[in-house]
Amino acid sequence: MIRTALTELLGIRYPVVQAAMGYVSGPRLAAAVSDAGGLGLIASATMSLAELDKAIEETAGRTAGPFGVNLRADAPDAAERVQLIVARRVPVASFAQAPKPELIAALKDAGVVTIASIGARRHAEKAAGWGIDAVIATGGEGGGHVGAVPTSLLVPQVAAAVDIPVIAAGGFFDGRGLVAALAWGAAGIAMGTRFLLTSDSPVADEVKGLYLAAGLDGTVVTRRVDGVPHRVLRTTMVDQLEGGGRLGGLVRSARNAAAFRGVSGMGWGEMLRQGREMRRGGLGWGQVLMAANTPVLLRAAMVDGRTDLGLMSSGQVAGLIGDLPSCAELIESIMAEAGATLDRLAAARKA
Ligand SMILES: Cc1cc2nc3c(=O)[nH]c(=O)nc-3n(C[C@H](O)[C@H](O)[C@H](O)COP(=O)(O)O)c2cc1C
Repeated sequence: MIRTALTELLGIRYPVVQAAMGYVSGPRLAAAVSDAGGLGLIASATMSLAELDKAIEETAGRTAGPFGVNLRADAPDAAERVQLIVARRVPVASFAQAPKPELIAALKDAGVVTIASIGARRHAEKAAGWGIDAVIATGGEGGGHVGAVPTSLLVPQVAAAVDIPVIAAGGFFDGRGLVAALAWGAAGIAMGTRFLLTSDSPVADEVKGLYLAAGLDGTVVTRRVDGVPHRVLRTTMVDQLEGGGRLGGLVRSARNAAAFRGVSGMGWGEMLRQGREMRRGGLGWGQVLMAANTPVLLRAAMVDGRTDLGLMSSGQVAGLIGDLPSCAELIESIMAEAGATLDRLAAARKA
């Protein structure tokens, strides 16, 4: 057993969190992780409010363990999502990007534990000042939207700067990594790619196969998808995006925005409203248009199994993973290896 400030805060057996993954971490995966003694997070940014309500109900029906909902504080209906989390007595809420103080306060008043994802020390300090209960610090080797600072430097820096539990993320897959994170001052680890590559993850086998086949150089950070750095599997489609000119990118983006309107049921009015909101957040119209790419392309891979068309967010760690255990097998093996690693280190000290 390894008890940390995180296991105490969340009431979980093991200091292992499943990072939110759009279209991947729904009820099945989140409940499997929570049931195995970790913390599962439902990714809600790609769900409507009604879908989220159903997902919460299904997850609660699958596990008696605590689980959480990951949401975006800048979603137009963020306040309603918070109300839903409170009404459904979800124990944990985590913010995908910058949180908002009023949402943190509303959750905490209702007894919900709050977690913020951060990629820089100043963001952790700001969130801690707003009363957040814990942060997930994700280094540059992680999958999805990432910063440039590697996990091995970000985590010790953040852990020294704040006195709330820090959950280390980006590149974790085994028990040695958990011990390294604890040594850097973290209270646990969060993993995305490793949990995508389990038998409990809903992703199609052909897609999992591409991840398993990737080497350590099999991912790339591209800005061509939505204007911000995004670590994805290197595929022909990504190479084309990277190689294409700016105009070609914008034309493709416009096409994808139209397709997104189709899958999301969102009208052009709402899309423009959200676009204006993103503009206020400092993005150019080109980037706003490109942002519409992400859900369409992720969905094509993760839900429809389209390895040719889809976009596959992936951490570099895919290059070290070669199996598809269940979440329970994975977490048990991580904890066993962490225990053996601590014993090895203690023996080295005595020797
Ligand atoms: C397939 C995939 C989808 C992701 N989707 C999201 C998302 O919807 N929201 C989010 O905040 N982070 C998302 N992420 C990032 C993860 O939450 C996490 O930061 C990352 O996976 C950690 O690095 P690792 O993959 O090396 O474990 C995604 C990551 C992957 C691999």
